[in-house]
Amino acid sequence: MTKRKHKRENAQLFQALTQQTQGTPPTDHDAPIPDQALAHLPGLTPLSSSGSLPKMKKFRFQLMHEWILHRLPPGRVADVGGGKGLLAYLLQQSGWQATVVDPVAQVLPEKYKDLNLNRRVKIGAAESVPHITQPFAPAIAEDFDLLVSMHAHGCNVELIDVAAISGKPIILLPCCIIDEPLLPAPGQHWIACLVEYALAKNLTVEPFRLNFRGQNIGLFIHAAG
Ligand SMILES: C[S@@+](CC[C@H](N)C(=O)[O-])C[C@H]1O[C@@H](n2cnc3c(N)ncnc32)[C@H](O)[C@@H]1O
Repeated sequence: MTKRKHKRENAQLFQALTQQTQGTPPTDHDAPIPDQALAHLPGLTPLSSSGSLPKMKKFRFQLMHEWILHRLPPGRVADVGGGKGLLAYLLQQSGWQATVVDPVAQVLPEKYKDLNLNRRVKIGAAESVPHITQPFAPAIAEDFDLLVSMHAHGCNVELIDVAAISGKPIILLPCCIIDEPLLPAPGQHWIACLVEYALAKNLTVEPFRLNFRGQNIGLFIHAAG
């Protein structure tokens, strides 16, 4: 898929999702998204109006970190399917008690780019984040105030179930459909399927986009009210 096509499809999907979560009927999906139509969505990073190119996919951790700091007070967060743990590390640096939940144990990257300072920052070899080395299971959620899952496998539906049962907020940035107990209807996008599933459980879904290339649509899902 070309980058332009991917960008257009992403924009169309986001437009459809914002309509899905607001209960308005779909309109012309080929039309560009007017910024004012998205401006009311809390935390939405303006992509087309900023004049800057979307950042590279490898910066998704920094962008997710910024989004969380902007929206939520610090607490105990699980980075579910957190991989190398950079998101958990950044949140830990910002006062969160962050833990990676992932069946595969990996070490932190040696460095990352601080997007605000525009320079590389080293992560010392002795630094670490707590790690629960097992697949996500609902009982794990008991020890956390927020559960984040970015491009993670096999836990998106389970996390929505946790949000519905426990009232805890979750943030999903869904990607591939792997090891999930639910499949989209024919022609339905996986993210739209997850939104439908969450809405059916009376949860509030706030779609947002992060300023990087690739699957950059996130869902902030929390109890209504
Ligand atoms: C594509 S990677 C994403 C890693 C990281 N969040 C990122 O954005 O780069 C998917 C991660 O999900 C983890 N994973 C697979 N099944 C899982 C499960 N049932 N519960 C939690 N994590 C899982 C994998 O080990 C892997 O680290």
